[in-house]
Amino acid sequence: MVTDKSEIYADVSRQLAALLAGEPDLIANAANAAALIYHSLPDLNWAGFYFRDGMELVLGPFQGKPACVRIPIGKGVCGTAAERAAALLVPDVRDFAGHIACDPVSRSELVIPLIEGSRVLGVLDLDSPLPARFDETDQAGCERLVGEFIEHHRRYPNCSTWRNSGDRANERS
Ligand code: SME
Repeated sequence: MVTDKSEIYADVSRQLAALLAGEPDLIANAANAAALIYHSLPDLNWAGFYFRDGMELVLGPFQGKPACVRIPIGKGVCGTAAERAAALLVPDVRDFAGHIACDPVSRSELVIPLIEGSRVLGVLDLDSPLPARFDETDQAGCERLVGEFIEHHRRYPNCSTWRNSGDRANERS
């Protein structure tokens, strides 16, 4: 059994590549990625995606309890990571002003933006019931998984979810 954290991420990365291979569907792949991460990493109570829709993040495939559906860019841990286009590691969500508590059990959080070129397409969000659950190894490991996910979907640019991920507000008709 693999117990070293870096080795766990290397193993998850290999499993993700196998799950994505040959499959273009974004929702199916995000669902499998969320399930893989949730069941491979210890001490998580939520793992999943938010996809960008104009100036909001909208809930995507996840594992865990039902979560808030829309998060404005710049709000909460997820919206802040999306606005900064940078990973956000929060050791104690109680110390993060504006944290959005979808599940009151969550104590620490790691958010990795999905970036392609200059566009933020969404975020991967991990929550844990343990304070300080995530460290730099988790951040690097999850950035690797997200990079793999983005790279895979660069081959399938016509996905409608990606198309709505522009930097301006969505025009709704
Ligand atoms: N805590 C997040 C909201 C999403 S849930 O954790 C699933 C935030 O503050 O953005």
